[in-house]
Amino acid sequence: MTEVKGIIENEENKILEVKNLTKYFDVSSGIFSKKSYVHAVEDVSFDLYKGETLGVVGESGSGKSTLGRVLIKLLKPTSGEVLYKDRDISKIRGKEFKPIRRELQMVFQDPYASLNPRFKIGNTIAEPLLANKVSGDAKSVRKTVEELLELVGLKKEMYDRYPHEFSGGQRQRISIARAIALKPKILVCDEAVSALDVSVQAQILNLFNELKKKFNFTYIFIGHDLSVVKYLSDRILVMYLGEVVELATTESLFEKTLHPYTEALVSAIPEPTIRKKTNRIILNGDIPSPLNPPSGCRFATRCFKASERCKTSHPELIEVEPGHFVRCHHYDVRKEEKING
Ligand SMILES: Nc1ncnc2c1ncn2[C@@H]1O[C@H](COP(=O)(O)OP(=O)(O)OP(=O)(O)O)[C@@H](O)[C@H]1O
Ligand SMILES: [Mg+2]
Repeated sequence: MTEVKGIIENEENKILEVKNLTKYFDVSSGIFSKKSYVHAVEDVSFDLYKGETLGVVGESGSGKSTLGRVLIKLLKPTSGEVLYKDRDISKIRGKEFKPIRRELQMVFQDPYASLNPRFKIGNTIAEPLLANKVSGDAKSVRKTVEELLELVGLKKEMYDRYPHEFSGGQRQRISIARAIALKPKILVCDEAVSALDVSVQAQILNLFNELKKKFNFTYIFIGHDLSVVKYLSDRILVMYLGEVVELATTESLFEKTLHPYTEALVSAIPEPTIRKKTNRIILNGDIPSPLNPPSGCRFATRCFKASERCKTSHPELIEVEPGHFVRCHHYDVRKEEKING
């Protein structure tokens, strides 16, 4: 992990400013029926700093992938802003966006689905280089791809092979080579190791670490497994039903876990070395429908600390300690007490 304190204390280090970002999907069944929307991402705000790895965790359907996609303009937000170099990227169109696209890249979960089975893997990696005309003639493109292969721990002789000739871990290395071919500034890794065996996961996580040291990439590392996300992240953002419920440095999130949902996630990690010894918290029921999220605290229906107020009033995200944010009425109270006396 990098020295996150130094990174986030420096305002000039901001690489992305996310303001009230919201993404709804229109899932109305017919033109005459009542409009219905999936509230996939709701009012998300945070800053991302150069060279940090921000982990994003939450259970299935909490909006992690949607957030990742909106952040790099693979999806258009319903409202809110994503400021990159002081400009809202959702408003930059066409040709003007092309140089920015190079700087914002994504690595997906399923490396097999993201590689064209009929393309030699070298050609797949060369594609972004050719499309952006960055490496000159065919010979120099090949050389650049061979260097990329070696950089991600493969052999340059593998250029002419096809995806089916590789293992899952190797295919993920190929996807990473393609994603970093244009030396992006921000790399969104969406469940990039989730489909791999545990031992291979560790190798790919190490590769991410090495590449970060070499190129000072900024990562947004999305995953549902907090123990994996923890390994790489300087800070962690916890999502529940489209909202940020907690955001803190990795250390702070584990040492001073605030949100009951985060407590449940932390308690589910098996290794006793990673967390304080506590009993496993089993949450009741499933995540509520994102079509009609609860009007009070979205987590209240499953929360073991919920009071009457939690069911009716929606909590704001508040900064309880410098850099440690939480959305929970239990900490609203403390803040009010502090102000009053
Ligand atoms: N294109 C779409 N159209 C309609 N609903 C969508 C679309 N994409 C995502 N959703 C919905 O938005 C919500 C958030 O989905 P998202 O894929 O972002 O969650 P996630 O946290 O990445 O989940 P997972 O861990 O399963 O990958 C879900 O309820 C999902 O069904
Ligand atoms: Mg996802």
